[in-house]
Amino acid sequence: MTKDLYEIGEIPPLGEVPARMHAQLVRPDRFGEPVEAIRDEVIDVPELGPTDALVLVMAAGVNFNNVWAARGVPVDVTKTQARWGEPTDFHIVGSDASGIVYALGSDVTGVAVGDHVVLHAGQWDPADAWVVDGNDPGLAPTFRVWGYDTCWGSMAQFTKVQAHQCLPKAEGLSWDEAAAPTLTGATAYRMLHGWPPHTVEPGDVVLVWGGAGGLGSLAIQLVALAGGRPVAVVSSEEKAEHCRRLGAVGTVNRKDFTHWGVPPAWDSPDWTTWLAGAKGFGKAIWEAVGEKVSPRIVFEHPGQDTIPTSNFVCDRGGMIVICAGTTGYDTVIDVRYLWYLQKRYQGSHLFNDEQAAAFNDLVREGKIRATLGHTYPYEETGLAHQLMADGALPEGNVAVLVGAPPGETGAD
Ligand SMILES: NC(=O)c1ccc[n+]([C@@H]2O[C@H](COP(=O)([O-])OP(=O)(O)OC[C@H]3O[C@@H](n4cnc5c(N)ncnc54)[C@H](OP(=O)(O)O)[C@@H]3O)[C@@H](O)[C@H]2O)c1
Repeated sequence: MTKDLYEIGEIPPLGEVPARMHAQLVRPDRFGEPVEAIRDEVIDVPELGPTDALVLVMAAGVNFNNVWAARGVPVDVTKTQARWGEPTDFHIVGSDASGIVYALGSDVTGVAVGDHVVLHAGQWDPADAWVVDGNDPGLAPTFRVWGYDTCWGSMAQFTKVQAHQCLPKAEGLSWDEAAAPTLTGATAYRMLHGWPPHTVEPGDVVLVWGGAGGLGSLAIQLVALAGGRPVAVVSSEEKAEHCRRLGAVGTVNRKDFTHWGVPPAWDSPDWTTWLAGAKGFGKAIWEAVGEKVSPRIVFEHPGQDTIPTSNFVCDRGGMIVICAGTTGYDTVIDVRYLWYLQKRYQGSHLFNDEQAAAFNDLVREGKIRATLGHTYPYEETGLAHQLMADGALPEGNVAVLVGAPPGETGAD
């Protein structure tokens, strides 16, 4: 007889789906810091639509978007969910997972019950006219981030995804190693390879902010793999070492500088002090490279604290590609450096199927190292996100075990 509910770590027989499940979720009436806002509750397992897949989650990746979801800032995610006809009183956090396919919608092909998969986080309406016309789904009006813009995230015993999100899991990686890198890695892939002509070319210097973080650890490897020269920005010697091990040609410690944030007005006396800081930072990049070459691509995500400096140090004709504003959204840039040196700003958000698959293939081929820094038990999901919010996580990506025991590879 099918059990109504399994405990965390218990694996139901393949294809057997209980009525209820454990899930780490947030609710609008407790938005706040992750350690309080993200809590385990028992809820109904979601029903599938014709193009959906239900995946038993073995491990889930920790990403910063769950911190935003917990806080209800900059948006209340339950309101976004309403647009897709999903529940509005709760939101299961999590946009990265590894697991086993347990059930499929009636129209799904190419994925089978029992497949060991990782899940990418890009969702869109398959009937979206933009997508149907063969355009990049990443730019579709119905594009959304699974587990952030949608309800049924990965920090639960089961997750509901669109079947095209399922990618083959790299054999030999443990469930937690496999769960962690897809969102940040595929995002970095689009940032570095998705915006021609500013794709990484051999010899290019690429400045990677937060080199030891989730995005940065994978961006460094992608740049090195393309023959570029990644320079990582870090805040400690341990993080610098981590980045060099991943392939950074050099590092810059941002703690050696103080000119961060919104700069003073260009015609105020303080401007020259700010400029001296930005010039010093640019010189530190040249020292890290070993010659006077500035970054053709600046890999941006801290936002408010760093954009004025990114704008300054980016090379003539280069690109500042940005996917977040972790330190804030307001910025001031000196447009002289933008137009005179003909630089480009490019927003970038997540990825499409091809970009996610291209990144996953690099992981499966062993060309990209999973950079799992730490794994937390399911019960500590809120804590793991609090540590991320506080900048207190170890280097690399972080995962939470849901169904899997520690270290198990999930090899067939
Ligand atoms: N739009 C998208 O598609 C997308 C996808 C993935 C992630 N994101 C967003 O990207 C951001 C970063 O994600 P992540 O997974 O890399 O987070 P993470 O693992 O927490 O890493 C962020 C890094 O930023 C650096 N940092 C912190 N404060 C900084 C400051 N004031 N100035 C410069 N650097 C600072 C830290 O490195 P140091 O302290 O060593 O400098 C840290 O390692 C988050 O806001 C996330 O939501 C967006």
